Amino acid sequence: MPITTIIEPFRIKSVEPIRCTTRAQREHLLRAAHYNLFLLRSDDVLIDLLTDSGTGAMSNAQWAAVMRGDESYAGSPSFDRFRDSVQSIFGYQHVIPTHQGRAAERILFGTMCKKGDVVPNNTHFDTTRANIEFTGAEAVDLPSPEAREPGHAYPFKGNMDVDALEQLIVRTGRKRIPLVMLTITNNSGGGQPVSMENARAVAALCRRHSIPFYFDACRFAENAWFIKTREPGFAEKTPLRIAQEMFALGDGCTMSAKKDGMANIGGFLCTNDDALAQQERDLLILTEGYPTYGGLAGRDLEAVAVGLQEALQEDYLNYRIASIAYLGDHISAEGVPIVQPPGGHAIYLDARAFLPHVPPEQFPGVALANELYLEGGIRSVEIGTLMFAKSARMDLVRLAIPRRVYTQSHIDYVVEVILEVWNRRRQIVGMRLIEEAPFLRHFTAKLEPRGGA
Ligand SMILES: Cc1ncc(COP(=O)(O)O)c(C=O)c1O
Repeated sequence: MPITTIIEPFRIKSVEPIRCTTRAQREHLLRAAHYNLFLLRSDDVLIDLLTDSGTGAMSNAQWAAVMRGDESYAGSPSFDRFRDSVQSIFGYQHVIPTHQGRAAERILFGTMCKKGDVVPNNTHFDTTRANIEFTGAEAVDLPSPEAREPGHAYPFKGNMDVDALEQLIVRTGRKRIPLVMLTITNNSGGGQPVSMENARAVAALCRRHSIPFYFDACRFAENAWFIKTREPGFAEKTPLRIAQEMFALGDGCTMSAKKDGMANIGGFLCTNDDALAQQERDLLILTEGYPTYGGLAGRDLEAVAVGLQEALQEDYLNYRIASIAYLGDHISAEGVPIVQPPGGHAIYLDARAFLPHVPPEQFPGVALANELYLEGGIRSVEIGTLMFAKSARMDLVRLAIPRRVYTQSHIDYVVEVILEVWNRRRQIVGMRLIEEAPFLRHFTAKLEPRGGA
């Protein structure tokens, strides 16, 4: 019999202890945090699934590269290695380092957008949307219709609705659309992938209308793996070739290296447009730093240079996607409602279906996330009515898995905790909001359980 178990393709050389707490301690800690998991100290969390951004474990090769970091202000060889690594995958002419993804977004939109413009995307991430709106332009989401059905397992639910894009271009006029973006994978749409076919169709439409086409490339390696394993004609290609093929369709990209850059900080902006690159570098110098470090230390550039290549290794991607699917499949087999199919970096629980007796105005996502903490010290994040208020279409709880951090037994533990909460779901009560900030209220809101703690 062939061996089918997929193992973590690494050994552990350095460990970081995590602290177990008792349920009584967690009740006290959660009350002190006003029932908002953002307000907990990370020391009081056993398994932290708040985000996959910047929370990954670096490899021994990355740590070795860190020691090679050249901290010269200008002309550092660390930048040369960073640029060469980026270009070997992305292929764009200009590589502009930034301290993280949103800095790349601010510079890109700051140079390309103005009031009255419209920027379409399959689904804008919140910082992308905010940076577009900050310029006075409008950010428009055009997800494929399948994305609206959380329970259906379409293979490429992250796709853009190409017909809707065409209608938008015709309606708005090419002159008001400075660029089109495609987010791979589609984070806000559940970490769902975009197919090569869809990217080609978007690229062809953009070319026909002479509109620049950019990728939000944060999870490009996970997206390449989904194409390899799901899209006809790609099984024999390496993730690197698939990524190269996809980026060749575009004119540039923004990237947060805190995801598939396998680093704790970093990002970049790429373009093939010489004049634009000059303007972008001018803005970079103003707010991020000199173009050979852009807000990063030389050692960070080195870590990203190595991490980008590691993210494309097949053993790693196979383990990464399998371990997330394992979590999703094991809980959904017991009836737990999740966004299907499991995404590339996270599992999303459908809190409205999980707690049908808790209406959206009583924050079912917050109630469920808090319960996972009380049951097993797991921190997740609500993406629903607390985060988006009245514009929330769903109430989800995201369990984002940091890269190379947790083992199979940690994931088994998470499965067990979720099933325990599922079994006593009818006893879970809704939440009442008692204090909120005018913007981004989910970060600091104070809540309490309805009917007392
Ligand atoms: C799709 C997407 N774009 C952009 C960003 C912003 O990147 P950063 O957090 O590095 O600023 C994120 C971060 O989570 C993201 O998921």
